[in-house]
Amino acid sequence: MAGRSEGLALEPLWHAPETVPANGVDARGGLLPPTLAARFMGELAVTLIPERPTVIANFVSTVDGAVALGPSEPAAGGGEISGFSDADRFMMALLRGLADVVIVGAGTVRVGNRHRWTAGYLQPALAADFAAWRAELWLSAQPTMVVVTASGNLDPTHPGLSAPDVPVIVATTPAGAARLGSRPLPANMTVEAVGSEERVPAGAILELVRGTGARLALCEGGPHLFGELLRARLIDELFLTLAPQLVGRDTYAHRLALVEGTSFGEGHGRWSRLLAVRRAGDDLFLRYRFER
Ligand SMILES: NC(=O)c1ccc[n+]([C@@H]2O[C@H](COP(=O)([O-])OP(=O)(O)OC[C@H]3O[C@@H](n4cnc5c(N)ncnc54)[C@H](OP(=O)(O)O)[C@@H]3O)[C@@H](O)[C@H]2O)c1
Repeated sequence: MAGRSEGLALEPLWHAPETVPANGVDARGGLLPPTLAARFMGELAVTLIPERPTVIANFVSTVDGAVALGPSEPAAGGGEISGFSDADRFMMALLRGLADVVIVGAGTVRVGNRHRWTAGYLQPALAADFAAWRAELWLSAQPTMVVVTASGNLDPTHPGLSAPDVPVIVATTPAGAARLGSRPLPANMTVEAVGSEERVPAGAILELVRGTGARLALCEGGPHLFGELLRARLIDELFLTLAPQLVGRDTYAHRLALVEGTSFGEGHGRWSRLLAVRRAGDDLFLRYRFER
């Protein structure tokens, strides 16, 4: 499907001073290769936390707060939310380009049944530039994928889970591991039973990420997984694209962060600082840093 904002640059509108880390601050990124810098109109760096992997998240939302269309359209994903915005795909690709690990929930994997969680998949014409950037940053060719599932209901032949050059770690429960273990698994996939019977706690996900040696992880949702990490105060930054669409749904299934069985009153609300604002056509690109 043809996308919106094809080839548009992400024009910087405003940024906080700390968006460009000071000399001596441990950070990932900085100057971009010329082709990527031309489109991003600047540099991109994420400050790294010393004591644990830094976790950033990326979502696209409609202006009325939908990140998915809910049970009535379960096959619709971020593409339908953004109107297949090419500028949003570029932003996603940049963040994948910077990350050691991409963390996704099984619900998102099941919806994106042809998706691959690499920068090159999102921006094929720039795949070589992203590869060169990762090499310059001394990163592995592709980020490792960590897929979180309680049930183990994943198709190991999914193209995004079985590409030989993308290491995949499935973080699951004992039951999930048993279910996955009953099928042949691709050589790039390992299964880790680190959860309880019903879920994989955020801390266990973080320990798996840490075990890979990662300094920077990118959470690409969906809402259940993001909610789990947010509640555990493990999300450090959010890159949020606002797509100029109103979908007018009234279920909770499409909210950005979803934690079942808890409420705002339990102190799980998180405040953040606005770090940067960009625009490409009618899309807004917001960057927030959460208080720790
Ligand atoms: N707009 C955007 O930027 C964006 C980004 C991502 C996703 N989405 C959309 O969001 C929708 C999916 O929403 P969702 O909330 O269902 O996504 P999700 O968090 O990716 O998937 C939920 C599933 O992931 C597993 N999971 C998540 N957290 C877990 C935990 N702590 N422990 C164990 N398992 C865990 C469970 O899998 P099992 O059921 O296998 O146990 C759970 O049912 C899709 O339509 C997707 O396209 C939109």
